[in-house]
Amino acid sequence: MEEYAETHGAPPSYFVLTMGCQMNERDSETIAGLLSGMGYAPAASKDEADFIAVNTCSVRENADKRFFGLLGQIKKLREARPGLVVAVCGCMMQQRHIVDEIGARHPWVDIVFGTHNIHGLPRLAMGAVLGKARAVEVWDEGGDIVEGLPARRGSPFKAYVNVMYGCDNFCSYCIVPYTRGRERSRGAGEVLKEAKALARDGVKEIMLLGQNVNSYRGALSAAGGVADFPELLLMLEEVGGLERLRFMTSHPKDLSDRLIDAFRRRKTLCNAIHLPVQSGSTRVLGLMNRGYTKEGYLGLLEKLRDASPGIAVTTDFITGFPGETEEDFRETMDLAERARFDSAFTFLYSPRRGTPAAEYEDRVPAGDKHRRFSELVGLLNAISAEKNAARLGRVERALVEGPAKTGQGIMSGRTDSGRLVNFAAPEGLAGAMRDIRITEAKTFSLFGELLPMEGGSAGEGRAAAGPCEVPDRGGREGRRREGRPADGP
Ligand code: SAH
Ligand code: SF4
Ligand code: F3S
Repeated sequence: MEEYAETHGAPPSYFVLTMGCQMNERDSETIAGLLSGMGYAPAASKDEADFIAVNTCSVRENADKRFFGLLGQIKKLREARPGLVVAVCGCMMQQRHIVDEIGARHPWVDIVFGTHNIHGLPRLAMGAVLGKARAVEVWDEGGDIVEGLPARRGSPFKAYVNVMYGCDNFCSYCIVPYTRGRERSRGAGEVLKEAKALARDGVKEIMLLGQNVNSYRGALSAAGGVADFPELLLMLEEVGGLERLRFMTSHPKDLSDRLIDAFRRRKTLCNAIHLPVQSGSTRVLGLMNRGYTKEGYLGLLEKLRDASPGIAVTTDFITGFPGETEEDFRETMDLAERARFDSAFTFLYSPRRGTPAAEYEDRVPAGDKHRRFSELVGLLNAISAEKNAARLGRVERALVEGPAKTGQGIMSGRTDSGRLVNFAAPEGLAGAMRDIRITEAKTFSLFGELLPMEGGSAGEGRAAAGPCEVPDRGGREGRRREGRPADGP
């Protein structure tokens, strides 16, 4: 790399494209960290980069389609610049038929690796740069968790921290257990160490990541002992400097009274939970292998709201699951009406090869699937808008994240409940925790007025900078496209 810098006047550069969820985003941060460690500098866009990594998602079919579309664009870049190194990785690569398809249709791709061997990237990248030989390395299963990998985070004051990898739930529609392997928890000490280091670095908010955090069982020390998720939260709430803790995702079938209690006595834990319900029909929930009933789910909401009044509850729905009848769908509408979610993602069922549901007959006709989808999204959006409107006039504390997507002099932040709030403020405020009086409410966002700090100072902040391109709203690609229309600030 030094030689490259001498001849080109600058180090080679990289760009990571992230196509999936928060876990995928966190992996991209590791990929960026590993490439930085090799001497690569971040590029402003894929068009300028010397090394492009595409971190893929396989959760729905449109994610697969977008990937192949993107590869077509990158192929043109590669034809114009034969020195460009292209790596593809992430969940799609854990499926043999996808790797075969890349080999057949895109043999020019230099490196293919999976979700379990990200740590092998420097060796693969070096091989590609030196020899330009094609390398395909995908592990079927994750071995021991590799700790201590570098990361280049997307934000200086918000961070993702993995608490566990993989998923053992095998919901009948879902590809994730196949792409991410079996459940493995990180040691509690490792999680705590990372959180403390992040807090020392100025991080204010941590989002703990796991496909089902309720299954977390992390070793306390080499001498023995195991912490469960509520215990881990207790420890993390004591980390000085951290203002906010969030986590996702929590599976309703395992949401324990002890986790609900964590909200009752919360300190830095935000008053918000993402609790994907998927369907309101107990029959469909059975076919989905979700392990709870409609009434059971509504009962959980009651307990949560009793323990922590005002808790924001968000969820995911799937419409058009095989065998879903009109009556099942009415159950879903009824649940949505009664649950009063703060916001929700709705997805059209997408058959994934290798999952049990993909073999179910009784597919819902596309017309019905889309009609139900629109009806559900209409109801969910109306409820979100009402719940946002109820916040008018209130003062909410926000973590200021950075400039809003539209409008000069407008900054964006998130409230404790996770709502997007925009307000007029100087850019230097990024990273500060500030009070905002809500003056306007839309379906998916709030607008407000920045209140002066007690004591009069403007508050400290730093600019956000990131070498990765990530999709909107935490990478959950279904939300805008399928779930709901974009709503400008
Ligand atoms: N572990 C998380 C889910 C990750 S996938 C959880 O259980 O909540 C995120 C969401 O994608 C799921 O909640 C589900 O609503 C949706 N999803 C997953 N597989 C899907 C499929 N085959 N078709 C449509 N939506 C799907
Ligand atoms: Fe998929 Fe279910 Fe696991 Fe979530 S809990 S990742 S939906 S299998
Ligand atoms: Fe993988 Fe996340 Fe997509 S686990 S399949 S990148 S939703």
